[in-house]
Amino acid sequence: MRYLTFALGKGRLANKTMSLLEEIGITCEEMKDPASRKLIFTNEELKMRFFLSKGPDVPTYVEYGAADIGVVGRDTILEEDRKIYEVLDLGYGKCRMCVCGPESARELLETRQQFRVATKYPHIARNYFYNQRNQTVEIIKLNGSIELAPIVGLSEVIVDIVETGSTLRENGLTVLEEVCPLSARVVVNPVSMRMENERITQFLRELNKVVSREGGKA
Ligand code: PRP
Repeated sequence: MRYLTFALGKGRLANKTMSLLEEIGITCEEMKDPASRKLIFTNEELKMRFFLSKGPDVPTYVEYGAADIGVVGRDTILEEDRKIYEVLDLGYGKCRMCVCGPESARELLETRQQFRVATKYPHIARNYFYNQRNQTVEIIKLNGSIELAPIVGLSEVIVDIVETGSTLRENGLTVLEEVCPLSARVVVNPVSMRMENERITQFLRELNKVVSREGGKA
């Protein structure tokens, strides 16, 4: 039997993903050692391999078949726009992609005036303004602390993730519009889905059981 390879996004979702896998009997003790610099972990009994990568790289590994299965936020899936199947909503990591800014920017959104949008998600932002709102805007790509942009005058608004809303509140910003809801998702390589259909379907079924049992708890 060949190894099934999993790409898991590092960061906020990683621990929750590991404990979810544990609940369905997929364990990888080695992976829990925080001091380890090892990048890939194997469970010989299950013939499974796991690696952690930067979130935005997960869809890339899965598209090329270097990983059969990935777990990553929907924000990354939408931004990367890869040829992969999104097969399951894990129900945790819930947050929203929003257009945010100072309250004073609200009316700007309703004008035909061009304005600047700072974001870590240029693809999502472009799609939202150009295709959904039919609005021409200037998009400025940043890599983090996006809330700074309207405060220091780099942009009028931002497109960013809002979870609790406290980053916005503490910086005098507010949600102006919601772009879409987000949460952790399972993605699968289309060829793996055909070639390893039985194993992958079984895996998704087990995962789905746990996820529906946990329901609103996430
Ligand atoms: C994310 C996001 C917001 C914040 C939202 O940033 O970009 O800044 O979390 O969370 P809240 O609504 O609960 O305050 P993250 O901390 O991942 O870091 P980044 O700014 O470097 O992207």
